[in-house]
Amino acid sequence: MTGLEEYLEPYAMAKEQLPSAYSHLKNQFKSDQLPAGFTWNELDGLVEHRFEISQRMVEKRLELGAGVFQEVALFNEGRKTMDKIRGKFSQLDLFQDSRINNLNDSVHKLRTQAETFSWIAAGITALMVGLALFLLVHERKARTKLEWELLESNQRLEVKVSERTKDLSEAKARISEFALVQENAIEEERRRLAREVHDQIGQIFTAIKLIIGSVQENALPEGQYKVLQSALESGISSTRKITAELRPPLLDDLGLEAALDSYIGQFASSAGYQYEVEIKDVDKLTETQALTIFRITQEAISNIIKYARAANVVINGLAVDGFYEFKISDDGDGFEFDSRRPGALGLIAMQERANLLNGDCKIESRLTQGTTVTIHLPLATDV
Ligand SMILES: Nc1ncnc2c1ncn2[C@@H]1O[C@H](COP(=O)(O)OP(=O)(O)OP(=O)(O)O)[C@@H](O)[C@H]1O
Ligand SMILES: [Mg+2]
Repeated sequence: MTGLEEYLEPYAMAKEQLPSAYSHLKNQFKSDQLPAGFTWNELDGLVEHRFEISQRMVEKRLELGAGVFQEVALFNEGRKTMDKIRGKFSQLDLFQDSRINNLNDSVHKLRTQAETFSWIAAGITALMVGLALFLLVHERKARTKLEWELLESNQRLEVKVSERTKDLSEAKARISEFALVQENAIEEERRRLAREVHDQIGQIFTAIKLIIGSVQENALPEGQYKVLQSALESGISSTRKITAELRPPLLDDLGLEAALDSYIGQFASSAGYQYEVEIKDVDKLTETQALTIFRITQEAISNIIKYARAANVVINGLAVDGFYEFKISDDGDGFEFDSRRPGALGLIAMQERANLLNGDCKIESRLTQGTTVTIHLPLATDV
């Protein structure tokens, strides 16, 4: 309005920058984010119209000079247009404000929801932790109870097992005792039979021999005297053999060493072996132990005669460390334990006899190397 060019600078700047600022503003609003009834066309028209008015005013100023102030209608129109533009912008402002408020509301709602949710989540978590703890404690209690029950049943089982073991060992002891009684009874019966055979049959043979001895040889038919005498001799020797088998008389009369020596000696020449018997500490053996050793030796010698083809048989016995150790060794063919004849009883019987007296009997054998039977019997003071 001064008429000076430099005062038109803001107008020129607005003219230059407004289109891009205006289009930038428009881009900020999407078509569905405009207030109801608002159109860009209308605002475009107003802005354009206001620019035309400004243009016209500048032109009028240049044309009329200070007389331009008489152009009231033009000023009024400019003001009205500007008011309308302001109205539109404040419509946009209000709309933006309300959008911002709405957004704030939704953010607030979301935040409230998030807070509520986090409380709920915390509550649920606490509940879950509580439940887990409860389950844990419950499980621990159940497990402890089970462990106790298991322990108790184990203890009951152990008591039962030890009771059964005790019963078993008692039964075993009773069986052993019974077997020993049986064995003693058998030995007693053998002794009685040996006596009977010796006293009855042996004496009859002896009496007949005496009678025949007093008879003249020619009192009998030719050759019969000799036949009768040899029959009598064989009867007497059979009687002796039977009594010796039933009850070795030397064992009772002269002791273990002499009895063994005599027993082994009687087969030596026919079986073809040399033999040696060295027995010590016999006085430490009970009568039953000596008899057991004799019976085991009988079976061992019987095996040597049957199978070993031995050149030497050595027997020795002595007391060692509370035990009586007795060995029967041969240098014969030997054998493999696994290839024993099925149903063979001799070796088993040897072991059982030793076991009956709480001892043991080991049989060691190697092919071509011979066989050794070793007996251990506990001495009376250590039983
Ligand atoms: N001293 C030995 N030398 C070689 N072989 C032996 C000897 N002693 C035992 N045997 C072997 O061991 C086997 C078992 O002997 P065991 O005395 O048990 O039975 P057996 O003599 O055959 O029969 P039995 O029951 O009449 O005694 C024998 O068949 C024999 O082969
Ligand atoms: Mg045998």
